[in-house]
Amino acid sequence: MTSYTRRHFLTGAGATLLSAALPAFGETPASATTINDAALPPAPVAHANPPVASTTAPDEAYTVTDLEIPTVTPTSITFSWSVYRTPHTPHLFPNERRASDAEVWLSDKTTGPLTRVHQSYSRTGLHFVTITGLRPNTTYRFECRSLGRVATPGLWFTIRNKEPETQGKVHTLSRPGGRYLHSMAISNDIHLGKKGHSVTTEPWPEAMIMGMLSDVKRRGIDRIYINGDLCDNGSLAEARRLKELLDTFGQYHKNYFLTRGNHDGYAALTDPLNYSQDKDPIAAVFPHLAPQHAWIVRDHGFRVLGIDTSYPGLTGGHITSQQFTQIEKLLAADPYRPTIVMAHHPVTEAAARSDMRPNIVNAKDALQLQQLFQKAPGVFFMAAGHTHRAHRDAPDLPGGPQFAQLGAAGPYPGGYAILDFYEGGYTVTFHRTATATALAQTAFNRYKSGYEKYGEHSVGLLADRCFTVKRTLTN
Ligand SMILES: [Fe+2]
Repeated sequence: MTSYTRRHFLTGAGATLLSAALPAFGETPASATTINDAALPPAPVAHANPPVASTTAPDEAYTVTDLEIPTVTPTSITFSWSVYRTPHTPHLFPNERRASDAEVWLSDKTTGPLTRVHQSYSRTGLHFVTITGLRPNTTYRFECRSLGRVATPGLWFTIRNKEPETQGKVHTLSRPGGRYLHSMAISNDIHLGKKGHSVTTEPWPEAMIMGMLSDVKRRGIDRIYINGDLCDNGSLAEARRLKELLDTFGQYHKNYFLTRGNHDGYAALTDPLNYSQDKDPIAAVFPHLAPQHAWIVRDHGFRVLGIDTSYPGLTGGHITSQQFTQIEKLLAADPYRPTIVMAHHPVTEAAARSDMRPNIVNAKDALQLQQLFQKAPGVFFMAAGHTHRAHRDAPDLPGGPQFAQLGAAGPYPGGYAILDFYEGGYTVTFHRTATATALAQTAFNRYKSGYEKYGEHSVGLLADRCFTVKRTLTN
């Protein structure tokens, strides 16, 4: 069992990118860089060898594929792709990757040649590149190339619906107006204790959690909210181990904040004779997580409300009348203050249409919660997890907050969301955890979880992963 310390983050020991981004796109103003991009130090180059394109026979049977754009922000685009020794289908576990070069070519013009803005080399054949310094609200044509070939998408979700991976062009997000206020990291579905093959000697959920914490720290954010399915079996041993890991990031309920998910109540299923809500193992370690109990905290002048939509032993979501009373009281204390709400299960009809109601909060409780939001106009965003994929959902009642399901920390798409707040709105962007181990584990899980179709379910569409919401956020 690895012993992690705070120094692990401070030295950046967990953050080695497989490929490095070069600030080479010279046409754009430096002032276009976002707060979080600016906070990222240059990534170390994985290997010093020169590109190998010129040494490769053009008829060799390698494949350049699995192209994804996990992230787009107002000023950056992230590309991910792999080079395999031989062709493979999109879903069967692939053969070996091969060492290869990586190039990103871009243009902000509708026609004409592309410009090479990035060049690197990866011994692993897995490429992950972020291009920064771009202009907001701008369409960029692009190509990602390795060994002289253009990367193509693999997953159906990146091929259908005119996704940018197929179109070869991607639009950067618009930047909300007004002054930048602050940023916030939200994660969900970390599933400590989940079994499965690890690409290292460490349990893979722990490597994903530690990588994520390292990534968030590297962005200069000292708070993280983790929205349910903290532990896979809800056991006391898992909860204690999770606290050991999270305590290296900061203090419970000061630097990291948690809500319960359905998996956090599974001790009621696996050990029913010894389980009672008074002796809930998760709540024994994290005191704010008593079943069906809400909490509220202040964050940079905003409020954050955490709700428990789970019930020990059940998969779907609901909210007890006692918790509704508590939530109503908490919201009524300062109803116009900008407020973010989080709960593990989605609540909207839009989510129900795409995810089947039994798996999310029941219709009656979902409507009652949204009626409470009508009495607290400061509530502007509600985050959910549970489905493991990003999905932007409209409110059921007029003037309600923006709802969003956020991608899972693990197994796939393997990351967390950053919300950047401005006076005139905010951006929601998904970020794949970009340590070498986390990227390799995510690439493995993309094929080997859920009978090799899990990647399709969880990758989602770019417009659901990354978007801008314009809304006044002053109190
Ligand atoms: Fe989960």
